[in-house]
Amino acid sequence: MKLAFFSTQAYDRQYFDRYNSTNEIAYFDAPLQEQTTNLADGAEAVCVFVNDQVNAVVINALSEKGVRLILLRCAGFNNVDVQAAKEKGIQIARVPEYSPHAVAEHTVALILTLNRKTHKAYNRVREGNFSLLNLSGFDLYRKTAGVIGLGKIGKVYAEIMLGFGCKVLGYDIIKHPDLEARGVSSVSLDELFAQSDIITLHCPLTEQTRHLINAGTIDKMKSGVMLINTGRGALIDAPAVIEGLKKGKIGYLGLDVYEQEDKLFFRDLSADIIKDDTIMRLMSFPNVLITAHQAFFTDEALTEITKVTLKNIDDYQLGTLSTTLVN
Ligand code: NAI
Repeated sequence: MKLAFFSTQAYDRQYFDRYNSTNEIAYFDAPLQEQTTNLADGAEAVCVFVNDQVNAVVINALSEKGVRLILLRCAGFNNVDVQAAKEKGIQIARVPEYSPHAVAEHTVALILTLNRKTHKAYNRVREGNFSLLNLSGFDLYRKTAGVIGLGKIGKVYAEIMLGFGCKVLGYDIIKHPDLEARGVSSVSLDELFAQSDIITLHCPLTEQTRHLINAGTIDKMKSGVMLINTGRGALIDAPAVIEGLKKGKIGYLGLDVYEQEDKLFFRDLSADIIKDDTIMRLMSFPNVLITAHQAFFTDEALTEITKVTLKNIDDYQLGTLSTTLVN
């Protein structure tokens, strides 16, 4: 199959070239957006990632070019107009699970780094500064971890936190009796906000969850709470979080995702003037740690993303695409 591959990074090419033998892949650095649809000329499928803008205009343009399949190299599909694709008869396939462990473990990495300040200690010691001043943290043991979204990632994360000896509270729109049996208490969102020392977000971005963390919900949290978002940027209202940090209501913030990340992440902007004042303000706090959407980034996850995406093409051609279909 002829495939137009958007938002290509060197590692994408490395993994796809390793496992692909039958498809003709044209790799493009550019993201898929209204201005770049011409790159899909002659392709039957496009392959995209989290920040490609697969809106109705893009889908109409792809349809006119004969594209019949959109392959997502990720689980979330909030960046795709599913209804528009359905109307044009374009199928959308994703990688529903590539490594929940990768994301859950990165969530814990953010917690441990923010708490024990190993990133600051590393720089200090390299400069011959062996002082411990301002490096103290807290024991995770017996703290309360609130988990929003108890799906594949939330479940793995909850189990890790139980291993630390934390009390784990969970909120989801569906029941997870298996987790309750393991010691995760199912609570309302308000109870979770009121009782948690650490709150992590593992729900998808939907109309219900957009800006789930806002001025009103921040008010309900414990003073000094640690908030971690490895879900999707728009789960958080960033200006409200900045106010929470300024007031000391939010004691620690860890972000792997950011609402405006499509203009920033996955590229080297170190020699540029960054015009996004919100992220610059967030970066200026000593108790904020930001990584650029790297929670998924392990060898196991990249291998799975590649293999499932290639299998999605095979299944599409055989007419057996089903479990990974979005529409
Ligand atoms: P999943 O579909 O297995 O679990 C999501 C859970 O959230 C489900 O149990 C669902 O019932 C629940 N949920 C839905 N709406 C909710 C609401 N309004 N309130 C509370 N819970 C709600 O998905 P998975 O694999 O666990 O991934 C979760 C999210 O993590 C993805 O949607 C994606 O946005 C993000 N993600 C981030 C990555 C990164 O590299 N930072 C990589 C992979 C996923």
